[in-house]
Amino acid sequence: MTATPDTVPAGVPDIYSPDCYTGGVPHGIFTELRRTSPVFWQDMPGEPGYWAVLKHADVEYVSQHPELFSAERGGIVLEDLDEVRLDQLRGTLLAMDPPQHRAYRKPLVKSFTARVVSGMEGRIREICREIFARIPDGDVEFVHDVTSSLPTQVIGELMGLPEEDWAYLHRLAERTNSQQDPEAARDGYGPGDASREMAMYAVQFAMKRRTEEPREDLTTLILESEFGGKMMTDIEFGSFFMQLVTAGNDTTKTMLSGGLHALLTHPEQLAALRADPSLIPGAVEEILRWANPLHYFRRTATQDVELRGVQIKAGDKVAMYYSSANRDEEVFEDAQAFDISRRPNPHLSFGFAEHFCLGVHIARLEGRVFFEELLAAFPRIELLGAPTRLRSNLNNALTALPVRLMRS
Ligand code: HEM
Repeated sequence: MTATPDTVPAGVPDIYSPDCYTGGVPHGIFTELRRTSPVFWQDMPGEPGYWAVLKHADVEYVSQHPELFSAERGGIVLEDLDEVRLDQLRGTLLAMDPPQHRAYRKPLVKSFTARVVSGMEGRIREICREIFARIPDGDVEFVHDVTSSLPTQVIGELMGLPEEDWAYLHRLAERTNSQQDPEAARDGYGPGDASREMAMYAVQFAMKRRTEEPREDLTTLILESEFGGKMMTDIEFGSFFMQLVTAGNDTTKTMLSGGLHALLTHPEQLAALRADPSLIPGAVEEILRWANPLHYFRRTATQDVELRGVQIKAGDKVAMYYSSANRDEEVFEDAQAFDISRRPNPHLSFGFAEHFCLGVHIARLEGRVFFEELLAAFPRIELLGAPTRLRSNLNNALTALPVRLMRS
């Protein structure tokens, strides 16, 4: 079924189909479902369907109760994975349950605090300036020409990866996140190939690093820390590495390109930002709410449980729809409006509770510094046409955004 973002097609909606997202997020459908069927059963082709949890309070509830809704049992995407891929995924924080999850997350937290991350501001600003300096005045495709290098470089620096490998890893991260899009799949990578290749790269990277002097980066921290009482093997490091590189890559890129698109389609708010750059942090939060990079993450019910009067059976898939929760009219006034002055803004784009995004401070810093530097570098920015969207029910990504960037 295809739908424009604000219409509700007749018949039973299909919010699983990736085609439902190519014309824009189906907010009309989500709004109607929040009213009529806020815990909605959605069928899937060829395998069991799932419960779509659409209200803000319910997404928080599911996130807060890993004992009822497991990330580990069935992973975090809707499609059931084979045991090999599921096992690989279970080596990442995202797909662990407590107590293992807490034991693995704890040693990392100190590298991701707001204070430590604020020390990266100067370097992130330099990277943004270098990126913009390379761009000539005129027409560009913003997603690839501008946004893609920032997150790759930031993660590359954080992990201490050789600079000559950044572009290669970025390509693998993109493949991992765009498997439902036939355009992106043309280069011959099958499901799981890119993440396997990245994990293999990481295993070799770890082996080499163990023979070298320790450095002040996240790789050294991970290789020298104990997780649940033992050191990580190179294979475990591979899964972990894969998650850090993919988690912080496309999501950040989407925040930047989706954010510019939101601002260009709301020129009065772009003008307000230009007039007062101190509004940028609030604008970044509203971009994250309104153009949230991830539509959902999945859990699996560990026992029979009732949610909003709906009986969920042990083993059922449950999807927490951030795209819907962020527009819940019970929480956000004028929820469909893009409003950079919105306060408070308790969006769920970074998840909530147990698995709350570890990279949240990095993402916010990248967002703020990127827009500060972009608006300073280019006094005029124009939208040249409609963006192209990734065919995906998970990643709310743009694949192309044609704009004109002018220095005068
Ligand atoms: C705008 C950018 C980003 C968005 C929207 C985002 C979103 C999310 C979401 C929704 C979750 C899962 C929450 C859950 O399951 O409840 C998550 C977890 C995670 N994110 Fe991010 N993320 C972003 C950037 C980053 C960056 C830059 C990094 C690292 C450099 C990062 C690393 C992680 C990690 C390691 C986890 C797993 C945490 C855990 O399971 O304990 N993310 N993120």
